[in-house]
Amino acid sequence: MTTTSARPKSSADWIAIEQATFFPNLRPPMVIERGQGSRVWDVEGREYLDLIAGIAVVSLGHASPVVQRALAEQSAKLIHTSNLFYTIPQLQLAKLLTEHSPFDRVFFCNSGAEANEAAIKLARKWGKRHRDGAYAIISAEHAFHGRTLATVTATGKENYTRSFTPLPDGFPHVPFNDMDALERAVDATTAAVLLEPIQGEGGVHVATENYLRDVRDFCRDKNLLFMVDEVQTGVGRLGTLWGFERWGVEPDVMTLAKGLGGGVPIGAVLANESAAVFEPGDHGSTFGGNPLMCAVAYDVVRYILDNDVLGNVNRVGGVLKRGLEHMAAEQPLIQSVRGEGLLLAIELTVEHAPDVVRLGHDEGVLLNATGPTTIRLAPPLTLTEAEAKEGLAKLRRALDRLDVPELTQPAAS
Ligand SMILES: Cc1ncc(COP(=O)(O)O)c(C=O)c1O
Repeated sequence: MTTTSARPKSSADWIAIEQATFFPNLRPPMVIERGQGSRVWDVEGREYLDLIAGIAVVSLGHASPVVQRALAEQSAKLIHTSNLFYTIPQLQLAKLLTEHSPFDRVFFCNSGAEANEAAIKLARKWGKRHRDGAYAIISAEHAFHGRTLATVTATGKENYTRSFTPLPDGFPHVPFNDMDALERAVDATTAAVLLEPIQGEGGVHVATENYLRDVRDFCRDKNLLFMVDEVQTGVGRLGTLWGFERWGVEPDVMTLAKGLGGGVPIGAVLANESAAVFEPGDHGSTFGGNPLMCAVAYDVVRYILDNDVLGNVNRVGGVLKRGLEHMAAEQPLIQSVRGEGLLLAIELTVEHAPDVVRLGHDEGVLLNATGPTTIRLAPPLTLTEAEAKEGLAKLRRALDRLDVPELTQPAAS
């Protein structure tokens, strides 16, 4: 037990609390105290341009007046009832999401993993009813669907699952963007295919032009559910309200979280009528669809629709992507640039992405390494063109400062 003492002042003092109390964690030695728009400040008062936005969450920027107002007004009225009762914000959000998507039914939860967990249960029930008890859900290699036992199994990364076996049955994986492999993997046990339009955590790998369309047609032909995980790509991030619109497909089920709440925790599963097989008692959540979170999500989505935020994502995403491509032409550490809208990545020629992120902190920019060679950018959807250019300049300085011994020393013979 710790005793109460004076409020810590420095990042180091605060971090000492983490080291004494948390399950071990890995994060940079900075304690963020406040944010405004696309910027945050740490307890030492250092300013950072935030090009990762809490991993694609703070969609309207930090301390957004839209989010503040919704929180203030709804918290003064009603915060929680559980799903024992109807509440108005939940019903309004359900109406808004279904009116602006091809889906008919919705279930609200609190996170991306919970949304996928619900989608997995939905697919299993659908398989029992419509495919002779089929239960398997095919997902892609390098996918990320969450950390609960079922979703981490669908994620399929050995280093995430190794300590938690035995894993649930029925989660085969196929290479992403490989239609033949998917066709070969389907058998009588298959109920559904679950894919991200862009694999965000996997390193911003984009589904090819035809892949999602071919998967859609194939699932229809074979009587399989086609489910998209839009936890990272949904709610405007790719410059369309839903990511799948870019591919011109309509999935049967979509999962959402992250940017939906603009910073508050909310997730959702949306399904078309024929996929929506949940009946009372099949699934539930105490906090899911809480009026406070739904009021915020409603105002976030309304703001995106009414203020041409999608136009901003396309314009500023274009500036950022072209800037990165231009940088790649000049800076030999960048091998390639990937992504759509405001979900972008650079692939480095060397395994130093975490070092570039660290140097970025010195330069006053927050970036994210999804692996040793990949740096991801997922800024607020309200990022301005000037901020995009500032971010590019800071990233460039971080790259230019990288001291890479393997590039400067002759290879050992
Ligand atoms: C595509 C995708 N699905 C699911 C998740 C899990 O979401 P959460 O961390 O809210 O559980 C993530 C998180 O990064 C994600 O990117």
